[in-house]
This record gives sequence, structure tokens and C-alpha cells, in this order.
Amino acid sequence: HNTGKLLPLSLADGDDENANYVVTRRTWPDNVKFGVATAAYQIEGGWDADGKGEQVWDTWIHNNPGKVADHSNGDVASDSYHKYTDDVAAMKEVGVDYHRLSIAWSRILPNGTIDNINQAGIDYYIKVFEELKANGIGAMVTLYHWDIPTDLENQGGWLNPDVVDWFADYARLCYEQFGDYVDSLGDHQRTEADLPRRVRIWRFCSGCGVQRSWGVPVRQACSLAHAKAWHIFDEEFRSKSEARNTIVIDSDWYEPTTDSDEDEAAAEIWRQFIVRYCSPSQFGMYANPVYSKDWPQVMIDRIADRSEKEGFNSSRLPAFSDEEVEYISGTYDFLAVNHYTSYMVSAAGEPAISDPSFSRDGGQSVYQKDTWQQAAAGWFKIVPWGIGKLLRWIKKTYGNIEIVITENGVSDLTGTLDDDHRINYIQMYMSHILDAMYEEDVNVTAYTLWSIIDNFEWTQGFNAKLGIYYVNMSDPERPRVAKKSSKYYSSIIKTRCLVD
Ligand code: NOJ
Repeated sequence: HNTGKLLPLSLADGDDENANYVVTRRTWPDNVKFGVATAAYQIEGGWDADGKGEQVWDTWIHNNPGKVADHSNGDVASDSYHKYTDDVAAMKEVGVDYHRLSIAWSRILPNGTIDNINQAGIDYYIKVFEELKANGIGAMVTLYHWDIPTDLENQGGWLNPDVVDWFADYARLCYEQFGDYVDSLGDHQRTEADLPRRVRIWRFCSGCGVQRSWGVPVRQACSLAHAKAWHIFDEEFRSKSEARNTIVIDSDWYEPTTDSDEDEAAAEIWRQFIVRYCSPSQFGMYANPVYSKDWPQVMIDRIADRSEKEGFNSSRLPAFSDEEVEYISGTYDFLAVNHYTSYMVSAAGEPAISDPSFSRDGGQSVYQKDTWQQAAAGWFKIVPWGIGKLLRWIKKTYGNIEIVITENGVSDLTGTLDDDHRINYIQMYMSHILDAMYEEDVNVTAYTLWSIIDNFEWTQGFNAKLGIYYVNMSDPERPRVAKKSSKYYSSIIKTRCLVD
């Protein structure tokens, strides 16, 4: 099964880097597991069902209906609150090993705090876990996927230092209530169970209405909240559980424009900490405190340097205390990374991209090449080699840690069932992952495709569809219809090969 024709590539004219790439005929090692991912607000609907409290996306969208591309919202979304058995049936049809799903904090704690528990919310997730278990599909749980309860947001949210305890209480409740379902995976297809959580912090930009990250203090709270929840798991639950626990980090790849020291240094800064306006977070500022110690050195140096040159007070970088550094360091059982796209970085500032958050930072620029293929909908271009470079860099920077790819996937506008472009994307990205594994022993043990079904893609609403099953959002029944890519993903899982 490891020979046969490669799928035709439909890459943009002039994209020689990708057009000349030959998809590897290597196979996935036997230990690697395959999954699919979703997040609560993007699929569930039932936004106020059965005692669920409001979370920031409910509140913001209801107050700003025009800010989402197609004026849609997640009130019903893919209606997985009612149709989760259809989701699991789709997963079963594909043959995935596990499903990565998120818990909506305000579904089980309507006000965010532990003194008001909503049993109906807990029951919903137990039904989902039971359904997965009955179908031999493992559960990988994300505790936080951007949906902080509105009552907590009104008290400052991730900027209120109490958030560390709020999150820890919520995490403990999840371990207590759902731990068994995650533990029991050992009996099913997975040899181990994972209980990672995503602690990614967004608030809303009052200007453009788009979510944007809110500076370093929030990152600091995030690291502390993650560490506290991990220690609770480690101390109170590990002995009764086979689950494992980590933080999930989104990461683009930043490639230097030339091999000059200046461009390489500029790219490294972007991999580590620069916060791009309205776009994903940078890897090192989350990873370094956990997988190494403290903020990345390049971040400490850079901020100190700028403080000196530009007269900033160096307190711009909130320091961790020595105890906090030790408390956060090592709070992982494996490394989890989401990846979709890449950027070029030039120290010289040419060619420029308008980036208000960065223009004062020495004239560097970050851009995507015009020749790279644009995903048919969405914010990103398709750069398959970027994932290979990212994985190699992670190994070089943090050591040979086990890596789980917790998201990867591509969008289109229509949700076409004939999605050869998605097949190409999966094939090429996987091929570069395999190159990194075979050439540099990068230890990838699981790959998670975003997403099993079309869903609510944040401010792009239903315009950007990333599912391998189509969902017609105008049909009240929301049937799940298999796209061609679901068959391809299924064949990879069965044959462990990228070619037919
Ligand atoms: C990453 C996010 O975690 C997920 O919520 C989103 O749908 C995908 N990127 C695709 O944009």
C-alpha cells in the first residue's frame, strides 16, 4: 500500500517551494494515534440550555451581532448539544482513536465559581463521554477554549489574580467528575489517556471587535493557572488515573527571510514572544515557563533592551518570583501544539506588512508570500514545510519531549463535499511531519485533525468551514454529511500511508 499515485496538487502558480515537494512515502509508526478536535462554543449550541451560564463569546456576540462575518453566532452552531451522537457516529465511521473536545466552563459552573454547580451541564458531558466510550473512542479533554464565564470576565477575567484559583477549582471539579472517563481509555483503543487543557487568553478589542491577546500580565496568570491545575492533578488524581496532563499552545512558524544572523534573530523573537495584532499567540512565552524555566531569555533581553533605549520602565515585563518559576517549570506530561500556517520574518523591514502592534519595534516585518496558496476561507496561507520546521525547532529548543499535534486543518468557504484541497493539505502537512520524525527523531505520538464537523469559526462565523463532515447551518436538523477528505483521513488511519 505504500506505492501508488500521489494526489494532484492544486497549488498557486509560482509556489515552487510546494509544487516541487514530493510527498514522502514513509508510513506512520504504529504507536501514533489519530484524532479529531472540536471546541465547545464552536459546536455545541445550547448557549443557555439547562442552566448554562453566559460566557464571554455569548455576551460579546449578542451585543455585537455585526462583528461576525456572516452575522451568525454560536447560539445553535452545529447543535452538538443535541446531536453529539451523530458526531460520535462520524468519528466511528472515520475510525479515529480519540476525540479532543472542550468543556464549557459556564455549562458546569454558570457563574464560573465552585459555589454554584450545574448538574445538568455535568450530565451532558457524561453522556458525551459515555457515547465515546461505547464506541471505543478515547477522550482528550480541553478545559478551556476561550470561553471564560461572563461573571468572571466582569470581575476582570484573566486580569484578576483570583483567576488562578477560579480556574483551579474548575479544573478540580472536572478531574473529579470526568476523570474516570478519561482514565478508562486505557481499556479501549488508547494505551494512555490525556487530560490536557487549553489556557489561552483573549479579550475583545473594543476597536475592531476582534479578539486580541491582552499582554504579558495575562500570560503570567495563564501560566500560574495552568501550573496550579496541573499540580492539583499531579497530587490528588494521578495515583488513581492513567490520564496525562499538559498545556496546549498554538504556534505559527516564523522563517527568516535570509540566513543572515539578523533575520534569524528576528524570526526567533517572533517564535518566542511577539504578540501579533489580533492573531495567535507566540509559542515561547507559554512554553518556556513550562518546558524550561521562566520567560524566554530572548523576551527578557528584548524587553530590557527596549526599556533602556526607549525609556520604558522595565516593569513592563512582570517577573515571576523564584518560587513561581519553580512551581510552573515541569508542569507537563507531554507537549501539545496546534499549527496551521507560517510567516516570513525580515529584520530589515522589507517587504513590509502593516502591523500596528509591531511597527515601533525596530522596523522588522512579518509577511506571507504572495505565491503561497491562500486557504479558501480564513486567515491563513498553506505552508506545509512550516510544520516540519516548527517540530524540529521545538525539539532543538526544549529537548526531545513527546509531542501531540492537537490541531491542524484547513478551511474553505462552501463546505464542498469534493474537498481535494483538504486532502492535499493533510497529505502535505503530514508528509512534512513524517520527514521531521524520520530525519530528526522528533517524537510525535498523535495527530489531531481540526475538525470532525463544520462549525462556528469565531469571527468568521460559518463562512470558514474546516470539517471533514459538512453541516448545513440553515437546516434545523443539521445532518452531518461525509466529505471526500473523511474517507482519505480514514484510509490513513487504516493503512498508515499518505498515498493510495
Ligand atoms: C485554532 C483554534 O483553536 C480553533 O478554535 C479554530 O477553529 C482553529 N484554530 C481554526 O482557525
